[in-house]
Amino acid sequence: MYILVNLFVLFLFHSRTAAQNCSVMACSSSSSIPIRFPFHLEGSQQPESCGYPGFSLSCDDRGRTILRLPHSGEFFIREINFPMQQILLHDPGDCLPKRLLELNLSGSPFLATIYENYTFLDCPMKLTNSAIGCLGNSTHTVLASSNESFVRSMALVCRVMVSRPIPISWPVQYYQGPSDYLNQDLQLSWFTPDCIDCEMKGGACGFASNGSQDIGCFSIPAIDRASKGLLVFRIICLTIALPAIISSIGIGVFICSKHQRRSRNGANNSLQSTDPAAVIPQPSILTVGLDESTIESFTKIVLGESLRLSGPNDNICPICLAEYQPKEILRCIPECTHCFHAECIDEWLKISSMCPVCRNSPSPVPPDDT
Ligand SMILES: *[C@@H]1O[C@H](CO)[C@@H](O)[C@H](O)[C@H]1NC(C)=O
Ligand SMILES: *[C@@H]1O[C@H](CO)[C@@H](O)[C@H](O)[C@H]1NC(C)=O
Ligand SMILES: *[C@@H]1O[C@H](CO)[C@@H](O)[C@H](O)[C@H]1NC(C)=O
Ligand SMILES: *[C@@H]1O[C@H](CO)[C@@H](O)[C@H](O)[C@H]1NC(C)=O
Ligand SMILES: *[C@@H]1O[C@H](CO)[C@@H](O)[C@H](O)[C@H]1NC(C)=O
Ligand SMILES: *[C@@H]1O[C@H](CO)[C@@H](O)[C@H](O)[C@H]1NC(C)=O
Repeated sequence: MYILVNLFVLFLFHSRTAAQNCSVMACSSSSSIPIRFPFHLEGSQQPESCGYPGFSLSCDDRGRTILRLPHSGEFFIREINFPMQQILLHDPGDCLPKRLLELNLSGSPFLATIYENYTFLDCPMKLTNSAIGCLGNSTHTVLASSNESFVRSMALVCRVMVSRPIPISWPVQYYQGPSDYLNQDLQLSWFTPDCIDCEMKGGACGFASNGSQDIGCFSIPAIDRASKGLLVFRIICLTIALPAIISSIGIGVFICSKHQRRSRNGANNSLQSTDPAAVIPQPSILTVGLDESTIESFTKIVLGESLRLSGPNDNICPICLAEYQPKEILRCIPECTHCFHAECIDEWLKISSMCPVCRNSPSPVPPDDT
């Protein structure tokens, strides 16, 4: 057994040295956006060959991460979801609808997953509801809607500016107003290079060798001799003991989190608590669940008759495996847009902060770029 493990370790070390010397970069020390393969930070100590063509990023002087699209200019990156191969962008000028009107993704590796036909209307009056504030002025209001009957009724007083497919990040049911959600961040996906399997395994994706266009999957970087033991432990977990460990840890976390919630409710200074549960070290991949106000802040939707749910969702709740029915209440995790029956996901999030499908942790507070 140990011979096998050691061979595997040697293999990992070997593939690490064959891989390129690509450190993970970030635009500032407080940035939550790691820049690593397929992305590459321009002008940094990362050699250009550390990134895939089309994935160059830069930083502004306030430490924000910038993506420049060949035909559509610069966007700020809010988040990069490596396992899902998605990026979340926002407009430096805070007027995403305007940018969406001009968006041309050709020449970039990024694609929008959902398009919806939108009509932009210029109305000679002040409307506050569902207006795109940044496109209007003191006497005119700009509206955008995908609802044809709404557009027809408004066209009596408003001028139709343009009608065209607009990339949207969220299915229509998520938001009520006809325009305001064009102001949400823009989510784009990439499909090449395909590192999904590698990311899911916690590996480091990269070019297989210098000068090659083939993609390889390497061990997590920064393995030194001190953490060799940890690596062996990981390998044992991955190959043999994973199912057993997961179930026992799951039970442990459930008990711990119940404990912690109870002690959090009881006394605020739980750090000084002598509760024995507080000193049990927890493996770093595990986090306890979210509190109820955070869970409650995630979008809830009521399914319509059409059962239309886009994004990464199909019509089955991944937790209870039951098919969705009209009028059922779903809750979606904002970061990854995975949706579930509200009653299923609420229970889950109380004991685990990870999305059950993609294992991303939803952050309680949206990242702030100031
Ligand atoms: C790899 O990175 C280390 C530390 O950043 C540096 O000292 C070394 O010269 C790099 N090696 C190559 C081949 O770029
Ligand atoms: C995007 O821009 C390129 C280059 O300017 C142009 O050839 C192409 O037609 C544009 N695509 C769309 C959909 O406008
Ligand atoms: C958008 O409109 C075009 C023509 O106006 C139509 O061909 C297309 O199917 C529509 N797309 C959607 C998603 O409604
Ligand atoms: C407001 O915008 C409209 C076009 O949308 C323009 O015709 C008008 O002159 C603008 N008014 C002011 C005060 O800027
Ligand atoms: C579309 O707009 C009409 C008229 O404003 C409204 O009655 C209808 O409920 C809207 N449909 C949807 C799906 O929002
Ligand atoms: C990788 O290849 C490039 C040219 O293709 C060369 O300049 C560079 O030195 C090589 N790097 C390593 C670490 O072999």
